[in-house]
Order: sequence, then C-alpha cells, then structure tokens
Amino acid sequence: MTDKHLNLVLCGAGPATDAAVLIRLAQEQSWTVSVTATQAALSFINTADLEQVSGNPVRTDYGSPSGTVRMVRPIDALIIAPATYNTINKIACGIADTYVLTSVAEIIGRRVPTVIVPFVNATLAAREPFVASVEALRHEGVDMILGHSSAWLPHEPGTGHLQQTRFPWRAALRQVDRSHRRS
Ligand SMILES: Cc1cc2nc3c(=O)[nH]c(=O)nc-3n(C[C@H](O)[C@H](O)[C@H](O)COP(=O)(O)O)c2cc1C
Repeated sequence: MTDKHLNLVLCGAGPATDAAVLIRLAQEQSWTVSVTATQAALSFINTADLEQVSGNPVRTDYGSPSGTVRMVRPIDALIIAPATYNTINKIACGIADTYVLTSVAEIIGRRVPTVIVPFVNATLAAREPFVASVEALRHEGVDMILGHSSAWLPHEPGTGHLQQTRFPWRAALRQVDRSHRRS
C-alpha cells in the first residue's frame, strides 16, 4: 500500500501523448498518480487509456457547476509536463481562469514539491515574459527542468516532433521524488 500521490498536469504539446510513460515509471516507484489535463491537452491524449493506466479519472474541469464541494485529494507532489509557453506564463503570473490553473496555483501555494518541464521552442523561450516566468517560478521554489544543467533546452521551431522521444520524464520524476523526500 502506497501513501504518496503524484498529480501530473498535461498541457497542449506533443509529449502529452506519451504521458503513460511517466505514470508507469511513477507507479514502479510506489506513487499513485492522477492526471489533470488542460483543454488544449485533450486533443493530444487518449483519456480512457490514461484513466486505465492511472486508475483515476482525468480531470479538466470543476465537475458539476451545482456542486458546492470541490473534492481536493491530498497531493504530495506535482509534475507539470509537458508545460506550454502559455501555461508557464499564466502560472508565473498567478492567473487562475481554469480548473487546471486554479488547482496548480493552490498546490504551489501549499509548497507541495513541484517540477515543471517546459516543451517550448527557442523563439518563444527567448521572449522576455517567458524568461521572467521561469525566473519567478524558480524564485518561488518550483523546480524548472530547463537549461544546460538539466540537459533540456528549447528546441528549434518545427523540430518538436524530433525532441518528443527525448522528453525527460525520468528526470522529472527523479527531481520530484528527491524534493518529496526532503519535504
Ligand atoms: C499540434 C500543436 C502542437 C503544439 N505544440 C506546442 C508546444 O510544443 N509548446 C507550446 O508551448 N505550445 C504548443 N502548442 C500551442 C498550445 O497548444 C497552445 O498555446 C494552447 O493554448 C496551450 O494551452 P494550455 O497551455 O492550456 O495547454 C501546440 C499547438 C498545437 C495545435
């Protein structure tokens, strides 16, 4: 029986298609996993497959609008991967205009160990708002897997499909596991 729960947030970028890889790796290390997907991520994933592998429903919305109680399950660690340019900038600014962003804001606010793996091309990553977002999130204690020290760099535009197989799922899990042990 395991008592550590990982929430995986998927954004609308190619590697979301391979999210089952992370779920299985995490389960091998005694994590239970739930998946939260942005609206944009839904067109990249097979929701039924991820529900079957994780054993949990994939959440995108608040559920019933008439429901007054939002079920918040205890989350011990958060991985946001692949994280888009859009979502990284929104999280850094504190925008919470969707279920996913609100949930992420609360989890980071509770100081739950959080790892973000961007999947962003080099022209977007060069923008000042993105550079500032990465710095702000690091300052807040979020682990950003990005840069030479992580061996994970923004890709040239149009080459994302070549990078997808190199996506650092294993490094993300290793980092979140390390932070969770320290917390
Ligand atoms: C086929 C396709 C591939 C995309 N790949 C990326 C990507 O690799 N990185 C990225 O930041 N945005 C990518 N986008 C754009 C995002 O999906 C878009 O900005 C979306 O609004 C992100 O929403 P989210 O951040 O809520 O997931 C892609 C869009 C499409 C249609």
